[in-house]
Amino acid sequence: MFDWLKKLDQHFPVRYSFWLLCGIGFMLSLFVWVGFGIGGWLVLLFLFLVGLGFRDTQQARHSVLRNYPVIGHLRFLLEFIRPEMRQYFIEGDNEAAPFSRQQRSLVYQRAKGDSDKRPFGTQMDVGAVGYEWINHSIQPTVLASHDFRVLIGAGRAQPYSASLFNISAMSFGSLSANAILALNAGAKRGNFAHDTGEGSISRHHRVNGGDLIWEIGSGYFGCCNEKGGFDEERFSVNARDPQVKMIEVKLSQGAKPGHGGVLPGPKVTLEIAEARHVQPWVDCI
Ligand SMILES: Cc1cc2nc3c(=O)[nH]c(=O)nc-3n(C[C@H](O)[C@H](O)[C@H](O)COP(=O)(O)O)c2cc1C
Repeated sequence: MFDWLKKLDQHFPVRYSFWLLCGIGFMLSLFVWVGFGIGGWLVLLFLFLVGLGFRDTQQARHSVLRNYPVIGHLRFLLEFIRPEMRQYFIEGDNEAAPFSRQQRSLVYQRAKGDSDKRPFGTQMDVGAVGYEWINHSIQPTVLASHDFRVLIGAGRAQPYSASLFNISAMSFGSLSANAILALNAGAKRGNFAHDTGEGSISRHHRVNGGDLIWEIGSGYFGCCNEKGGFDEERFSVNARDPQVKMIEVKLSQGAKPGHGGVLPGPKVTLEIAEARHVQPWVDCI
């Protein structure tokens, strides 16, 4: 800092300069308004800024504002528009998670029915360190079958030859009846398993007869008694169902902090209540 600035700073904090300018602006605009009858709105504006500066210096919540009255608000304004600034001016087309601008553009183009083709190859830096790709093998192999399976429960009463590709857990309730019907029909046709999700086995799971993995979560849906506890009898009814090939016990789920998903009362229809053995129209926790 220059010496003269240091000296000045001892008498009047230089960081208050903008606030001071507002004060000068107020005096000038007041003079013009009183003398010539114009610029009344400027008087109000500068008065507001001077008042704002006063409030900034009195508050103890934001040190930026206390140290830099009035102009310190720029920091919050810039912070507010930071995502837009990054997105429009700074961010690369292939940056950003979970989806880059390029990936999003592709989705928008396809949704609008516009052409999504870009000539002249990829825009990715395929020479960059860490870039991954899959090469065609120059020594092709012959696979005996594309029906990849693994035997689960070998030597047990009901082993199951499970496909490596199945339908992951999505409850009836989070998905509609038609979705469950369609997924289960697909499981039947493709000879793979359909995980019921926490919501247990609904009547729609049984229409097409696709293999089921019955998921039991913390709500014990499908095997709970009226008080919400575990009901052995109800459990064994579903467990013995030949369509139920495996039982999955879900202890917890990262995306659902606490003890699992909540289905709000208005969504607990009669069908859902029937599948889960819970009260209809009551929050299902
Ligand atoms: C609509 C919906 C409902 C879901 N319900 C359950 C559920 O009841 N139990 C469970 O373990 N996972 C549930 N999941 C999580 C999925 O089984 C899966 O793990 C998750 O969607 C991640 O896989 P993805 O990346 O292929 O979507 C649900 C997911 C969705 C989208």
